[in-house]
Amino acid sequence: MSQLPRLIVCISGTGTNLQALIDACHTGTLAAQIVLVVSNRKQAYGLQRAAAAGIPTLYAPLKGWAEREAYDADLARQLLPYQPDLIVLAGWMHIFSGAFLSHFPQQVINLHPALPGAFPGMNAIERAFAAYMQGQITISGCMVHYVIPEVDAGPVIATAIVPFHAGDTLESYAARLHAAEHHLLVQATRQVLSERQAQELVP
Ligand code: GAR
Repeated sequence: MSQLPRLIVCISGTGTNLQALIDACHTGTLAAQIVLVVSNRKQAYGLQRAAAAGIPTLYAPLKGWAEREAYDADLARQLLPYQPDLIVLAGWMHIFSGAFLSHFPQQVINLHPALPGAFPGMNAIERAFAAYMQGQITISGCMVHYVIPEVDAGPVIATAIVPFHAGDTLESYAARLHAAEHHLLVQATRQVLSERQAQELVP
């Protein structure tokens, strides 16, 4: 177990993508171990998923910090002892600054429910679906990318196109998109780990 690459997963919500990673680690689809789950929201259901899987959790609220960068630096300080090989943002609703990212160069990746350059930020699925309904787009999708201080931007690792279907509702489209995300996030995490292994950066 100790030789497996070490993941930290950051969440803010339901944690279905966290669950996909937990399941993939359990079945061996992903040769890695999740050493910590971080949430900036106390009520995030993903914290319960982590606890059920026996994974340590950290609740790190932004509230109380006067400056974002001080919060980011402090969170990095708390994560460093876990010696993560990769930090996966899976529904993490906080934009990291350089004060965090500088501690983990090329080691932070993010899942976003839209294609590169489209619909950055919150409610991307809702905005993509509205654009489809207005005839502006026919496809959307999801991506995993390296994190830079700009929101939902940075070098792309993997994408999945999820077309709209006639008769789609927001709910039916979102369900299909989330299923694609669960697959993509595991695939992209595996890809990054294997690239880092080839460079002998991770065990
Ligand atoms: C996912 O759809 C993810 O792409 C999105 O949050 C959701 C988390 O779902 N992330 C963003 O919008 C980042 N800008 P989950 O908590 O069920 O994994």
